[in-house]
Amino acid sequence: FMVDKGNHRHFMEKEIHEQPEVIGHTLAHYLDFVGGKTKDIALPFDFAKLDRLYISACGTAYLAGSIAKYWFERYARLAVDIDIASEFRYREMPLSPNSAALFISQSGETADTLASLRYCRSAGVPIAAVVNVQESTIARESDAIFPTLAGPEIGVASTKAFTCQLSVLASLAIRAAVERGFVSPERERELVRELSETPRFASAALKLDRQIEKLARELAQVKHVLYLGRDTSFPLAMEGALKLKEISYIHAEGYAAGELKHGPIALIDESMPVIVIAPHDRIFDKTVSNMQEVAARGGKIILITDTEGARRATIDALETIILPTVPELIAPIVYAVPIQMLAYFTAVFMGTDVDQPRNLAKSVTVE
Ligand code: G6P
Repeated sequence: FMVDKGNHRHFMEKEIHEQPEVIGHTLAHYLDFVGGKTKDIALPFDFAKLDRLYISACGTAYLAGSIAKYWFERYARLAVDIDIASEFRYREMPLSPNSAALFISQSGETADTLASLRYCRSAGVPIAAVVNVQESTIARESDAIFPTLAGPEIGVASTKAFTCQLSVLASLAIRAAVERGFVSPERERELVRELSETPRFASAALKLDRQIEKLARELAQVKHVLYLGRDTSFPLAMEGALKLKEISYIHAEGYAAGELKHGPIALIDESMPVIVIAPHDRIFDKTVSNMQEVAARGGKIILITDTEGARRATIDALETIILPTVPELIAPIVYAVPIQMLAYFTAVFMGTDVDQPRNLAKSVTVE
């Protein structure tokens, strides 16, 4: 069927704005908001008996899996190996007999992800997949599918599929935590309530569009951008860099903030903006010291944070994008929104083909 842009200039802009709605639909599929519980889901394995979960995917889906690793390990005490599918498929990795494999793919057709799935199949590991296209090959070859209800995504750069993947993965991590006995019914109710607030916070994030557009005008003048974050904001920093390079063709890198001193700090000067993703959390002060290192070398910082983070980051020449204060669990989903808008507006200023960037394909069915 036909999908049109509505009142938006690009599909990407439309898809960014659809997020509160599609995140809400997706979460409702996995969570009982009224009962304050995760829903029962049919699984080809028992979360309580797993000693490892293997996740593989490509591109943005890989970065969703990289964020989910923190959730499964933190909430469910389940060790996760996260891999880029094109590496996993050839690595000849020994797979634990008490493991399961999870594949993440918007299209469900990515060749490397499918090959990784078949590798796990031949090793007898139970297989589940987070897919947006339920009639896809990856969906068909999985023992269980966890759909994202993002609707068709047209823009080559993934936006709503990413936040819906995160919504599914957060719900699954909480479900795993319940089944493994690491979350009490009270805590489950609290986490489900936190997740239920994601659409509202994503809407609030969308309202920052005018400020972000202004910052993007400056970003469109530079040649290189560095994104930094810790914890779940680290893979999100890589996603921010990926979005920017994909659609604006500006060179960008995402780094763990703590790795700054092991290399990228050599690049910092007045012409290199650094985008720091840092909700105020237990490691926020560590990130502030990284920002001080950047500021001391004349680097211009754009800090994406909340009110408390902005208050504590007393650094000169700092631009701040202030989001609502959100629970730790949902921060990467909410913080994805300004990251996407920053890439989007920068690309618009650069005059690139936002929905169909050069050399990229929506679905990569060849190696
Ligand atoms: C391509 C797309 C990306 C996507 C990746 C994985 O590179 O341009 O946006 O993240 O493939 O695609 P999948 O359909 O497996 O999520």
